[in-house]
Amino acid sequence: MKKTILSLIAFFLLALAPARALENGLARTPPMGWNSWNKFGCNVSEKLIKEMADAVVTSGMKDAGYQYVVIDDCWQVSRDAEGNIVPDPQRFPSGMKVVADYIHSKGLKFGIYSDAGTGTCQDRPGSRGYEFQDARQYAAWGVDYLKYDWCNHSTQEVKSSYSIMRDALKVSGRPIVFSLCEWGVETPSKWAADIGNLWRTTEDITDCWSCTGQSLGVMQILDAQVDLNGYAGPGHWNDPDMLEVGNPGLSVEESRAHFSLWCMLAAPLMAGNDLRDMPAEVREILTNKEVIAVDQDALGRQAVKDRDYGGLEIWTKELSGRNTAIAVLNRGDKPREVSEYIGTRKTVRDLWKHADIALADGGYFRATLAPHSLVLLKVSGE
Ligand code: GLA
Repeated sequence: MKKTILSLIAFFLLALAPARALENGLARTPPMGWNSWNKFGCNVSEKLIKEMADAVVTSGMKDAGYQYVVIDDCWQVSRDAEGNIVPDPQRFPSGMKVVADYIHSKGLKFGIYSDAGTGTCQDRPGSRGYEFQDARQYAAWGVDYLKYDWCNHSTQEVKSSYSIMRDALKVSGRPIVFSLCEWGVETPSKWAADIGNLWRTTEDITDCWSCTGQSLGVMQILDAQVDLNGYAGPGHWNDPDMLEVGNPGLSVEESRAHFSLWCMLAAPLMAGNDLRDMPAEVREILTNKEVIAVDQDALGRQAVKDRDYGGLEIWTKELSGRNTAIAVLNRGDKPREVSEYIGTRKTVRDLWKHADIALADGGYFRATLAPHSLVLLKVSGE
């Protein structure tokens, strides 16, 4: 009798519970691509997006694993009489299907942006109340990735607002990666894995090594990732925001450290610079396959901060095949010496030098790190 009552209660609880799983089978490794926002803001157009898709191929980025070409805010201007979202006719004269077809013809995937509230962060129409209609429209255009922002949400509840679009995408007839952009306000790491494939963990990034204010520097965003490692894994990732690699506020050394750290964090790698005229050293950062392999490792672990020597930090990331990635970071403005025990029977590879390196006697990694620089090692062996 007791058993029957218990199973009846369980049945009703299950029946009442909202569909919890995302289960779209996508983003088994962190998504990689390019997004228009960091460099171009609202200055997006069909011409720009097509040129960027071309550049993803010619720069070697496609070959290195970048797939998604994502148009951020400002592509949309209004809704028509039937409520359909209308792309800016001046900036996208051929319409979104043509843009999507072009991107697909390059062997790439197409991403777009909307907002869970009534308007986007640039006050373009949001998807509130139009979730299913928008998802159907995206699928008809050939959208493969949706970034979904959180401006103009008024009193909307966050989980249910994002769940509606998850459910809409689910029945849209097309596999679409779902990227939540709620800025970490209500700790999405704790609840978003059932809703999206990735979720922003902070306010917007800016191309600055260490800055606070409305937008955050690379170091401030890094600090906000400590303790989030347990929430990341295949299909569901913490998103410390898009890359600023190659943008003017970061030196080449800083860009290299920023890229390495995002790979250690198993972060989505969405380039945010102009890919059409990249200096060779920027292209080499974005296409370093040994470093990208750390990000894309099949285990899907996010790095942890193992040691903090005050401005000198050691981060480690477990990799498949019983390997480990170790990042040694000098955050400060002065050179720093490091002497870190690695082990006596290890093979150690420097992923920026593309070479195996010898450890000092007793199995120590010893080096002097320039300001704002990072050494990235892959350690194998017992
Ligand atoms: C928010 C997001 C950014 C970008 C802009 C667009 O600030 O966090 O990444 O999408 O909106 O308006």
